[in-house]
Amino acid sequence: MYRYHCLNPISDIGMNELTEEYVAAGKPEEADAILVRSASMHEMEFSKELKAIARAGAGVNNIPLERCAEEGIVVFNTPGANANGVKELVIAGLLLASRDIIGGINWVQENEEDGNIAKDAEKAKKAFAGCEIEGKKLGVIGLGAIGVLVANAAANLGMDVYGYDPYVSVDSAWRLSRSIHHAKTVDELYQECDYITIHVPALESTKGMIDCDALGLMKKGVVVLNFARDVLVDEEAMIDALVSGQVKHYVTDFPTPVIAGVKGTIVIPHLGASTAESEDNCAKMAAKELRNYLENGNIKNS
Ligand code: MLT
Repeated sequence: MYRYHCLNPISDIGMNELTEEYVAAGKPEEADAILVRSASMHEMEFSKELKAIARAGAGVNNIPLERCAEEGIVVFNTPGANANGVKELVIAGLLLASRDIIGGINWVQENEEDGNIAKDAEKAKKAFAGCEIEGKKLGVIGLGAIGVLVANAAANLGMDVYGYDPYVSVDSAWRLSRSIHHAKTVDELYQECDYITIHVPALESTKGMIDCDALGLMKKGVVVLNFARDVLVDEEAMIDALVSGQVKHYVTDFPTPVIAGVKGTIVIPHLGASTAESEDNCAKMAAKELRNYLENGNIKNS
């Protein structure tokens, strides 16, 4: 018999992976295993019973990894399980930054009661005109599961895609995606691209990587997209770049107090993986990995 506790609601499809040998523990302190999505576990005390934590998602920055290692608690994540959901929102982000869909929708809502929409339609067409992404250069930093899906989808929409990942060789990038021009340095990607999207984990080495030097190397009027983690971008530097026009739009899936409301930002409340399919895939993978460890001692995505 194994006792588990869910710190966040986990999809039923995932929970169905757990057999009758698994019973819900009333409290985390009584559990052999914890399933978690985004809840922060940094302040949590771990009981002696706890053997494993399964994160239904890719990023593990909500889990105190060092403490888990010291206390012999194995941590799993679900790499790739929500990659398609995130990819689709990144493509939506590219389009939101290029076509003034939000401005247009707001305008309709503000004017529909006055019945002026048909009369002013020509004005709206001018006011909310945008640009197309076909033929524009997109830089993808980080060629993991999400980066490669984004690169391929953008290439299918006619974008000219540049990829950079210090851990992926030109040959492997070519195998992963035939659509990517492999940038030799990240600076080359900064200098070449009209849109730049970041898909790297939050590590000491990547924190603040989009700083004023990086922003200064980019083309004037660049669009930067961040669906990875807020800490990758120096938000004060980003605000300066938005104010000066160096960056046209910053599309971010992280509504931090610093960035919220700044002109030129398009802020989404961390919805990248919030699709029924991604939630099911993550929960299924998390539950399977957990079982594989608790029942067979096998460790895969840790
Ligand atoms: C992830 O790291 O995969 C995302 O944060 C997933 C989520 O929204 O839980």
